[in-house]
Amino acid sequence: MNHYPFLTTLEPSLFARKQTYAVFGHPIGHSKSPLIHEQFAMQIQRDIKYLRIQPSLDGFAAMLTQFFALGGQGANITIPFKLNAYQLCQQLSSRARLAGAVNTVWQDEGVLCGDNTDGAGLVADLLSQGVAINKADVLILGAGGASRGIVEPLLTQRPKRLWIANRTSQKADELVLLFQSLATEHGVELIASSNVQFEENTPSFSLVINASAAGLDDQSPLSELAADHVFCTGGFAYDLVYGKTTVFMEQALQRDCRISDGLGMLVEQAAIAFCQWHRVGIERLDTRAVIAQLRHV
Ligand code: ATR
Repeated sequence: MNHYPFLTTLEPSLFARKQTYAVFGHPIGHSKSPLIHEQFAMQIQRDIKYLRIQPSLDGFAAMLTQFFALGGQGANITIPFKLNAYQLCQQLSSRARLAGAVNTVWQDEGVLCGDNTDGAGLVADLLSQGVAINKADVLILGAGGASRGIVEPLLTQRPKRLWIANRTSQKADELVLLFQSLATEHGVELIASSNVQFEENTPSFSLVINASAAGLDDQSPLSELAADHVFCTGGFAYDLVYGKTTVFMEQALQRDCRISDGLGMLVEQAAIAFCQWHRVGIERLDTRAVIAQLRHV
């Protein structure tokens, strides 16, 4: 993965002349967000500056405050600061509140506002890849922060059933409890299970989303036996990570599923944040062109 320059301190000259945006994370040198936002800005003929900022692990709040004090217009927040951003925001969108995390911030008359566009970005990418979510049997693997961020936008698509499976089944139970009333509202059957449960003869799913961190250790959350039960021919397997074919994706390919990494989600979540900051409609952006271009970077 490419590594790009990033800032660990801020100075006023960075904010001169152009409207300035940034992504905050640690580490941040790999982030493609500046490339994405600069492409969107070109598409609507705006000239912006977009920085990569890497605060120290305990320095996020101070640096975000300084960013806005110096004239910053909006920021994306990534690992490990999404929870810190959630706690700092004075106003939250309902999906950010449900996700328990914030990935997009801006100021409105001095009030720090936060949204979470990750789940909506995933749904947008799935739909534009022609994946049916409505009335489908959907499985989410993992019950950490990434999973929590995608449950609400998936529920609003009204799948038939949404299963959340995790290595530690208690955490899946907790997520199901959190989203149960919303699921009922949307007429979705919401089920918690453990990953190993799929080694028994369980139903297969037309859409399987890996939101676990197993891929980071070159592992899959599914054993081969569980994968035999979970995937069905013609199904779709989506991994939230991007830039590599994970073990999870390989398992799905071997079972004749279509696969996708999370690059499209990255671009789509950025598009929603961009539209929030720049007050433009999403139809003004060509996200597919940006995804195609990033595949070659
Ligand atoms: P994030 O915020 O990125 O979701 P997290 O909160 O640490 O990160 O959650 C990581 C998720 O990946 C958890 O669901 C974790 O399972 P546990 O709750 O049992 O820890 C899951 N995970 C991590 N490594 C895994 C592995 N090797 N196999 C299966 N699941 C794994």
